[in-house]
Amino acid sequence: MSPLSTRKGPVGVGVIGAGNISKQYLDNLTVFPDLKVHVIADMFEEAAEARAKEYGIPEWGGVDKALHHPDVEIIVNLTVPAAHVEVATAAVNAGKHVWTEKPFSLDRESGLGLLKTADAAGIRLGCAPDTFLGAGLQTALRLIHRGDIGTPLTAMTTFQTPGPESWHPNPAFLFQHGAGPLFDMGPYYLTTLIQAFGSIRKVAAVGSKAKEIRVIGSGPKAGEEFTVDVPTHVSAMAQFDSGASSHSVFSFESPRARVGFVEITGTEATISLPDPNYFDGDIKLWRAGDEDWTTIPATGPANGRGMGVLDMARSIRAGVPHRATGDLAYHVLDSMVSISESIDAGTFINVESSAPASAALPEDWAPETATL
Ligand SMILES: NC(=O)c1ccc[n+]([C@@H]2O[C@H](COP(=O)([O-])OP(=O)(O)OC[C@H]3O[C@@H](n4cnc5c(N)ncnc54)[C@H](O)[C@@H]3O)[C@@H](O)[C@H]2O)c1
Repeated sequence: MSPLSTRKGPVGVGVIGAGNISKQYLDNLTVFPDLKVHVIADMFEEAAEARAKEYGIPEWGGVDKALHHPDVEIIVNLTVPAAHVEVATAAVNAGKHVWTEKPFSLDRESGLGLLKTADAAGIRLGCAPDTFLGAGLQTALRLIHRGDIGTPLTAMTTFQTPGPESWHPNPAFLFQHGAGPLFDMGPYYLTTLIQAFGSIRKVAAVGSKAKEIRVIGSGPKAGEEFTVDVPTHVSAMAQFDSGASSHSVFSFESPRARVGFVEITGTEATISLPDPNYFDGDIKLWRAGDEDWTTIPATGPANGRGMGVLDMARSIRAGVPHRATGDLAYHVLDSMVSISESIDAGTFINVESSAPASAALPEDWAPETATL
């Protein structure tokens, strides 16, 4: 088998983690012509088998089956957050590029270790969210970067719901170390703010936990109780390199759901962005002196989860940087860990890492077209 760097044609993919989110990924990964999903794996092999049969994936099995598959070039790591670094590191050691679901890691040490291991091996790391590559956020970022709101100054974001235990059949991990509303939803909002403003330099936050025990609301385990280990309401301020600042609420404690609120104010206008957990949605602009919003439709591709994997695959073949990088995801993780530390310490925390700039995605980028 030829080394990864000299291969041609569609890029071989192996998926590890056949749970809830794997369906959204496979809906796209199995139809993008520049990708070929050869194998799906899970610690529960029957889960992998079921997904393989659902999507016509030729092979399934345990983790090693995907890691050592000769045609796999990118491992798509859709395991739970606590397993992200372990699975990604095993993939790097097996010589595979890795796309990981968010968060990148649970702590700085293991995240930095993964970045260094991959760098030394010449292996690429990509990480969710790739929603910022969708038409909605790309259109908004184009407007911001070409100066339609003047100089970006401040932002407000809100994500608040009663919590995911009502709909997720296995929600306990979402209330453990490495999750909660900050680590689970923060990546969408912070990645968007970083794309608009640049790197985060310092943060301050307060957090709280209203309930020690929650109850699973759906699926075969409905009615089972689990413990809550992390703050379920976080209110965080961030200041960016440019001096711009943001205020964000991340909460699983609100009877009233209000999600996807992102407003960025500049010297000339305020822009309302679409929900950063999605790939599409209108943009609204309120210029100084206006009496109502002007709606701007999103333009560009909005296929959904897997766009970041495809961008990574095409970038591997072209020998150019991909957009949703491990370094960007590490900066988001570093910022979230700093927010947690600020909650505990009651002080501002400086964020040491920086995010590399991600190139804009061309409006005519076409996931359904075979280019390799
Ligand atoms: N569910 C969603 O709506 C959603 C949305 C966006 C992102 N995500 C992210 O996707 C990831 C997975 O979430 P999910 O909701 O699919 O979880 P899930 O619990 O439904 O699925 C995770 C799967 O990974 C497997 N797994 C866990 N550890 C493993 C290991 N060490 N080796 C092999 N397999 C292992 C589990 O058996 C399970 O099948 C998380 O990081 C989550 O933050 C989920």
